Amino acid sequence: MIYIDPPYNTGRNLIYKNDFSETTAEFLERSGQLGDEGGKLVANPETSGRFHSDWLSMMFQRLRVAKKLLAKDGVLVCAIDENEFGTLSVLLKEIFSGSAWEHAYVTVVHNPRGQQGANFSYVNEYLIFVFPSGTKAIGDRKIDDEDVSWSQFRNWGGESERTDAKNCFYPVLVKDGKIVGFGDVCPDDFHPKQTEWNSDIAYVYPIDNVGIERKWRYARQSVDGISTMLRAKRSGSGYQIEIGKTFGLYKSVWTDKRYDSNEYGTKLVNSLIEGSGFTFPKSLWAVYDPIAAVTWNDPKAIVMDFFAGSGTTAHAVMQLNADDGGNRQFIMVQVPAPIDADLPPFKRGFTTIAEISKERIRRAGKKILAGACHTDWNRDVGFRVLKVDTSNMQDVYYRPDQIDQKDLLAAVDNIKPGRSPEDLLFQVLVDWGVDLTLPIKRETVQGKTVFFVDGNALAACFDTGVTEALVKELAGREPLRAVFRDNGFVSDAVKINVEQVFRQVSPGTDVKSI
Ligand SMILES: C[S@@+](CC[C@H](N)C(=O)[O-])C[C@H]1O[C@@H](n2cnc3c(N)ncnc32)[C@H](O)[C@@H]1O
Repeated sequence: MIYIDPPYNTGRNLIYKNDFSETTAEFLERSGQLGDEGGKLVANPETSGRFHSDWLSMMFQRLRVAKKLLAKDGVLVCAIDENEFGTLSVLLKEIFSGSAWEHAYVTVVHNPRGQQGANFSYVNEYLIFVFPSGTKAIGDRKIDDEDVSWSQFRNWGGESERTDAKNCFYPVLVKDGKIVGFGDVCPDDFHPKQTEWNSDIAYVYPIDNVGIERKWRYARQSVDGISTMLRAKRSGSGYQIEIGKTFGLYKSVWTDKRYDSNEYGTKLVNSLIEGSGFTFPKSLWAVYDPIAAVTWNDPKAIVMDFFAGSGTTAHAVMQLNADDGGNRQFIMVQVPAPIDADLPPFKRGFTTIAEISKERIRRAGKKILAGACHTDWNRDVGFRVLKVDTSNMQDVYYRPDQIDQKDLLAAVDNIKPGRSPEDLLFQVLVDWGVDLTLPIKRETVQGKTVFFVDGNALAACFDTGVTEALVKELAGREPLRAVFRDNGFVSDAVKINVEQVFRQVSPGTDVKSI
């Protein structure tokens, strides 16, 4: 799933502007992937003459990438307000075009007090859902107990007696007011009371108030499938069993108080990070519910957000996992938008929005762990932080005829100065397509630092002075992949022998040096 909440193009917010007329080189330079670090934040004022097209150009590139990244059964959810709702919905229809995609528009009341306009007080914004058509992409919503219409699980009227369907006469087991299971179909000569007690478990049978043995609405073999629709209600010294529709389709207008971005966004983020400076982060629940709706059948889903802001999406993913025992993962992307030096968060040591996002996720994780959590949950609130940077390798732009002898020594090290072993390790993981979330262990082998990724998925040593003894020891561990620094070997002879050593000791290992 991809959830995004882009800058709404209100004319006031600052965005990184992507000019569609700029060249790739200019874009790389401005976005910090080449040359000076960091692009420039610019306002996109309504008077710019290209107000919508500037914003749409910025969105177009990102949505094209989103389409590539989405899983086959993936769903894209975009939050937007009235400023760009029209243009964004047309853009989405253009990118996710044809009958393969369905587009749905949900109104969310996020500001019940209203934002005063000249003619209307705006209380709502929108969620645009884009999903593969012809599939059940959106799960059902849980209906609150007080909104469910409950009725007797026991049949009444014609053909409702025990003898009409013997498989429908069995006990419903209740403990402390909760249904905990179902007993076997009763033999014909067994005639219990409506509620029988066996220590603290009540066995409830479909017997009516005048003692007539009736039947449950579902036979024993099918009752497990609808057990979430049942509840036990205390009655005299026993229980009555009731059935109600506890799940239903999501409506296209969401009015619940919990979508209020002031109460469950601004105040919530400020309660985690006092003076965070975020004026309108999303309500936690306005992000939680779309994630729950989309990942209902995939508790291991990956949820991506490339306008992370204060990190509400990560918070919502962790909260949902804590509630239902799932193991969803999140990928948050946030440009290092600088914070003004005279704003409170800057004075608290946060220099970029990304710094605030990370701290919010850390604190949200701690808070969730301290609260009630599903017993099956793995309690994983950890995350890794990676920054996009230029290559670790030295830029080699010279033509042979421009090189002179004194430049040769400068070319001995092919790695840029200041790059850490972790920088090199993650480059290798990306190059090899190894999952960046795998556990990494650092060990000292023959006096050198070696990283082991996921046990033996990869062994990497970027130290200098690597000896044959170290190479042999690593080969002995038979990793799937092994990597060294090109100029890291103690001698040319060791470097030449590496492949040979691995071929003999661990022929299955893919060896490379960078
Ligand atoms: C509306 S906020 C997201 C708020 C977030 N959903 C939350 O609840 O905190 C939009 C984010 O997009 C970032 N942004 C602005 N222009 C951008 C651009 N051109 N590319 C990527 N991110 C941008 C801003 O730094 C901001 O954090």
